[in-house]
Amino acid sequence: MSNSDGSLDRRAFISKSAALVAGASALARTALSYGRTLGANDRISLCHVGNGSRGEDLDWIIAQLGKSKNVEMTGVCDLWSINREKAVAANQKYHGRAPRAFSHIEDVLATEDIDALILSTPDHSHSILLKMAVEAGKDAYVEKPMGNVLEEAQAARDAVKQHSRIVQVGTQHRSEPHPRAARELVQTGVLGDVSKVEIVWNYHGARWRGRPQTKQIREQDTDWRKYLLNKPYRPFDPQIYCEFRLYKEFSSGIPDQWMSHGIDLVHWFMNASFPRSAAAHGGIFAWHDGRENADTFQGLLEYPEGFLVSYSTSFGNDAPSFTRYMGKKATLVNIGGEGSPRYQLVEEKGTHEDNPDIDKNRASKYILLPGETQLPAMGIDDRSLEHMGNWFDCMRSRQQPHATVDNGFAHSVACIMVTNAYWSGKKQYWDAASETIRDQPPQL
Ligand SMILES: NC(=O)c1ccc[n+]([C@@H]2O[C@H](COP(=O)([O-])OP(=O)(O)OC[C@H]3O[C@@H](n4cnc5c(N)ncnc54)[C@H](O)[C@@H]3O)[C@@H](O)[C@H]2O)c1
Repeated sequence: MSNSDGSLDRRAFISKSAALVAGASALARTALSYGRTLGANDRISLCHVGNGSRGEDLDWIIAQLGKSKNVEMTGVCDLWSINREKAVAANQKYHGRAPRAFSHIEDVLATEDIDALILSTPDHSHSILLKMAVEAGKDAYVEKPMGNVLEEAQAARDAVKQHSRIVQVGTQHRSEPHPRAARELVQTGVLGDVSKVEIVWNYHGARWRGRPQTKQIREQDTDWRKYLLNKPYRPFDPQIYCEFRLYKEFSSGIPDQWMSHGIDLVHWFMNASFPRSAAAHGGIFAWHDGRENADTFQGLLEYPEGFLVSYSTSFGNDAPSFTRYMGKKATLVNIGGEGSPRYQLVEEKGTHEDNPDIDKNRASKYILLPGETQLPAMGIDDRSLEHMGNWFDCMRSRQQPHATVDNGFAHSVACIMVTNAYWSGKKQYWDAASETIRDQPPQL
C-alpha cells in the first residue's frame, strides 16, 4: 500500500523495519530447533495471536475439533488486555485448562512447547507476524489477506518455504464441501472455455464503522507502538485500532477483506495464480463518515490463461450477490455473496437476440452433496470446521494444506494490484519474472 508520508517517516519506517528484521532473525537462530516432530499421539499445542472478533470464531472452531484432532490452546496472545482476558476465559471453558496469557508475540516465539500459532490480528500485520512465527520454527494458520505490502508478503512466503513450515491461509471456503464439489465439476470442462468471471458482493450499511470496541479501547490497556509494527508513528487512534479496515495504511478495505476470498476462489476454480494486469475504480459514495477506503469498489483483472474477472462491491445497496463463471457451454452461478454454498449450473443455449424465451430452454441443476435433498442456504458461515481440521491433519502429515502460502501470496498480489490501480488511477501489470508490480507492461 502506498505511503503518503514524507522523508522523516520513511526513514523511521526503514529503521523500524530493519530492527524488526534483525529481531526476527535473532529469534530464528535461537528458536529453529524448537520445531518438534509431532508423533501420531502427540497433542498439538497452539497459541492464538490476535483475540478479536475473528479470534472468537477461530477459538470456537478449534474447541469443536479439540478432541478429534487432539489439539489444545495452551496460550493466547493479544496486545489489548480486555480481549486477552476474554480469550483466556473462553479457552479455559473450551479446553478445561486456562491457557497462558501473552501480550507480545516475541514471548510466544521464545516458548519451546508451542507447536503452532493462529494469527488473526489486523490485515497489516499478517505477513510480518507470519514470517516471525515460521522463523521461530512454528507452523501457522494466518488470516486473509496473507499480506497487503508486496515485499512483506514475498518475505513471509519465502520464510515459510525456507523453514518448511505448514501454513494454512485463512481462505476457508477452499475446504468447504460445496465449493469443493463445484470446483470438481468445473475441472471436468463442463463450462467449456471460460472467458469471464463476475463477482458481485454487496451490503447495505456503513460497513466496518462504529464497532463497539472503538468506544471501549484505551491506550493504556494496549501497546499502540506494537500495533503499528513497521508503520510510521502516529498518535493513538481508537478508530484505526478497531476499524482498521477503513484506513488505507492498514487495510485496503474491500479488496483485502472481501476480494481476497473471492479472487482466491477464482484462482482455485480456474487453476490460475497471478493476474496479467488490473484496473480499478470506486470511491466513497455512500458513507461519508471519515473513512479513507472506498465503500463502492470495482476491480477488473485480466489473467494470462485467457479470462477477465470483474469484482464489484457496493456498501450503499444490497442488491443480490453472486459469482458467475461464464463458459461457452455453461454458466456456474454461485448464488449469494461470500461463502454461499448454493451453486447452480446453467446450460448455454443460443442467444436472447434470436429467442427472447431462451432461458426456458436452458437445462440447469443445483450442486448438491451426496444425500443432500434440500437447497443449501445462501448465508455465510464463517465457522466452518473443515479448513482448520485440514491444517491440523497437515501438521501431522507434513503435507501441504488446502490454502497454501503460494495461494495466499497469489490472492495478496491480486488485491495489491487492484488497490494500487485504485489509488494511482493507473492500470497495473504483474511482472512474473521479477515478481514486481508496475504501471507499464513488462518487456517480453
Ligand atoms: N476468514 C474469514 O472469514 C475472516 C472473517 C473475519 C475476519 N477475518 C480476518 O481476521 C482479522 C482480524 O479481524 P477482527 O475483526 O477479528 O479484528 P479485531 O480488531 O476484532 O481483532 C484484532 C485483535 O488483534 C489484536 N492485535 C493487534 N495487533 C496485534 C499484535 N501485533 N499482536 C497481538 N495482538 C494484536 C487486537 O488487540 C485485537 O484484539 C482481519 O485481518 C480479517 O481479515 C477473516
